[in-house]
Amino acid sequence: MFAEKVLSGMRPTGSLHLGHYHGVLKNWVNLQNEYECLFFVADWHALTTHYDTPQVIEQSVWEMVIDWLAAGVDPAQATLFIQSRVPEHAELHLLLSMITPLGWLERVPTYKDQQEKLSEKDLSTYGFLGYPLLQAADILIYRANQVPVGEDQVPHIEFTRELARRFNHLYGREPGFEEKAQNAVKKMGGKKAKLYGELRTRFQQEGDDEALEAAKALLNDTQNLSLGDRERLFGYLEGGGKMILAEPHALLTVASRMPGLDGQKMSKSYNNTLTLREDQDSLVRKIRTMPTDPARVRRTDPGTPEKCPVWQFHMVYSDDGRRQWVQDGCISAGIGCLECKQPVIDAVLEEQKPMRERAQIYLDDPTLVRNIIADGCEKARELACETMRDVREAMGLNYS
Ligand code: TRP
Ligand code: SF4
Repeated sequence: MFAEKVLSGMRPTGSLHLGHYHGVLKNWVNLQNEYECLFFVADWHALTTHYDTPQVIEQSVWEMVIDWLAAGVDPAQATLFIQSRVPEHAELHLLLSMITPLGWLERVPTYKDQQEKLSEKDLSTYGFLGYPLLQAADILIYRANQVPVGEDQVPHIEFTRELARRFNHLYGREPGFEEKAQNAVKKMGGKKAKLYGELRTRFQQEGDDEALEAAKALLNDTQNLSLGDRERLFGYLEGGGKMILAEPHALLTVASRMPGLDGQKMSKSYNNTLTLREDQDSLVRKIRTMPTDPARVRRTDPGTPEKCPVWQFHMVYSDDGRRQWVQDGCISAGIGCLECKQPVIDAVLEEQKPMRERAQIYLDDPTLVRNIIADGCEKARELACETMRDVREAMGLNYS
C-alpha cells in the first residue's frame, strides 16, 4: 500500500465559523475517508501570538474539538490530539533548532507579515521566530507526506522540506552507506531488486520524477525490509544517505472564499462571522440585518446582485435555478431583500442542523471528548516516539 499520511493542525484562538467549515473542515472530512489522518490542536502555536492571553486558548481547545466533531471529523477514522500532550514535538523542535540557520526563519514571509499585521502585540520573541520550526517538527515527527493547508502556509511547508533535506544530509550519512544500500537492494529479491535498480537509474540519469515515485511506491510495497534498510533505500534513490525525515507536500486547499456578512472574507477580526454552531435566533437576525446593494433603498428600487453580499451567500448555498430567481428578482425589483435572504437562512440552518445535533452529544457528556483526545494523544505519541528514536540515534544521543 502506498502509505500517504495526512497531518494538519489548527490554532485554538476562538470559536470556529463558517469560513473554517467551508475552507478547512469539509476538506478534512473528505480526507479522512481516503488517508490515514492526524489532526491536532496547535496550542503551542497559539501561545506564540497569544502568550499574554492564555485563557483564550484554554477556553478554545475543547470548544474547537467539539466543532471538529460537529463538522463530521470522525474519531474512528482520524487521530485527534493536542500538541502539548505530545511533548516529543518540543524535543524535535529543540533538536532541529541546532541545525536551523537563523536566516531561514527570518526569511519566512509570515514572520514579518504577521508582526506588521499584529503590530499591537510584541512578536519579537524567540518563540514567534521559531513558529515555522515548531510547525516543521509537528509534520516531520509523524513523517507526514501530505499537509492540507491554505496558501499562506505554503512557505512553512517549503521550509519544512528544506529542513528535512538538511537533516538527512547531515545525519543520514553512515560509514559504508553505498555497500549497505546495495546489500539492502539484494534483500528485496530478484525481480523487485532489478526494478528498483532500473527506476533509480532512470531518476538519477534522466531526472524522471515518475520513476522516483514508482520506486518509492515499490519500497512501500516491499514487506521484508528492516526499518533501517528501508530508510537506506529511500535515501539511495535520491542521493547519498539515509532518509530519516520525510519531505512533506502541501496539499493546497482550493480557496473556497466564504464571504462574511459584509461581503469581505469571513474573519473574526472583521466581526462578520457566523459561528459553526451559532444560536438559531442570532443566525436569523444576523442574516436579516445583512447589508444589501446600497442602491436598493426602497423595495421598488432595482438592484445589482454583484454589489450585494447576500448574492455571495447564494453563490455558496444556492443552485442555478435559485440564483436565476435572485438575478431576475433583484434586477426587476420583483423580490424584496428579506425574501431574497430567506433561502439563505434556510440553507445555513439546514447545514447547521446535523452539526448542532452532533455537538449536543458531546456537550451533554464532555467525558466523550476527553476520551477521544486521550486515545488520539496516545496513538500520536507512539508514532512520535518511533521517529524520535531514529532522530536521537542519528544525532548521537542514544548513549547506553
Ligand atoms: N500554522 C498553521 C496555521 O496557522 C497551524 C499549524 C501548526 C499546522 N502546525 C501545523 C498546520 C502543522 C499544518 C501542519 O494554520
Ligand atoms: Fe441583495 Fe437579494 Fe436584495 Fe438583490 S434582492 S440587493 S441580491 S438581497
